[in-house]
Amino acid sequence: MINVMSDDGLNLIFRNARTHNVWLSRPVPDTLLRQVYDLAKMGPTSANMSPMRIMFVKSPAAKERLKPALDPGNVDKTMVAPVTAIIGMEVHFYEQLPKLFPHADAKAWFKDLPEDVLEYTALRNSSLQGAYFMLAARALGLDCGPMSGFDNAKVDAAFFAGTTVKSNFLCNLGYGDASKLYPRSPRLTFEEACRLA
Ligand SMILES: Cc1cc2nc3c(=O)[nH]c(=O)nc-3n(C[C@H](O)[C@H](O)[C@H](O)COP(=O)(O)O)c2cc1C
Repeated sequence: MINVMSDDGLNLIFRNARTHNVWLSRPVPDTLLRQVYDLAKMGPTSANMSPMRIMFVKSPAAKERLKPALDPGNVDKTMVAPVTAIIGMEVHFYEQLPKLFPHADAKAWFKDLPEDVLEYTALRNSSLQGAYFMLAARALGLDCGPMSGFDNAKVDAAFFAGTTVKSNFLCNLGYGDASKLYPRSPRLTFEEACRLA
């Protein structure tokens, strides 16, 4: 038996899923955020290191702390979105490896590496996890609005001070107003983007 996702499922998470900029007032319950994380966490990472850490910014006070870090074009939509997820990364992810990769001493592979190597390893894997997170959110009926137009140092100071977590990207979450979408931009074809060797 071959298990493949239905066309409806593929439409939901890929073909019809869009980046949203205008948000309806429909709230997003915390239980749904937990469901999204519980799916996203299952995606693969190097040595199962799972460096993604998420700060869900929901309250007006927390949104105000985020606001000064945003590029001007990202302010209004982020203030309106029911939730803004700060997709962060634990640069000292190796501390969790005895739990996450218990069958080998994986902590020893990473703990003495230079900070910049740890950071790009965390960036690669938290970016993958951020993508799993968006697909999980879409699979559960949410819309996403990812953004890298912000000042990482300001976000880190406002939300991750005194930790070794750094921001990767932001993702507005909620139910988007599909009537306000721009036309879909083209994608590269298989022939343009891929080679068979
Ligand atoms: C990592 C990342 C960063 C992005 N940064 C911004 C941003 O700062 N501001 C913005 O308006 N859109 C931003 N976008 C949205 C992209 O332009 C959008 O996802 C892309 O054009 C595809 O649009 P579609 O999903 O509607 O097809 C970002 C998307 C990603 C994945």
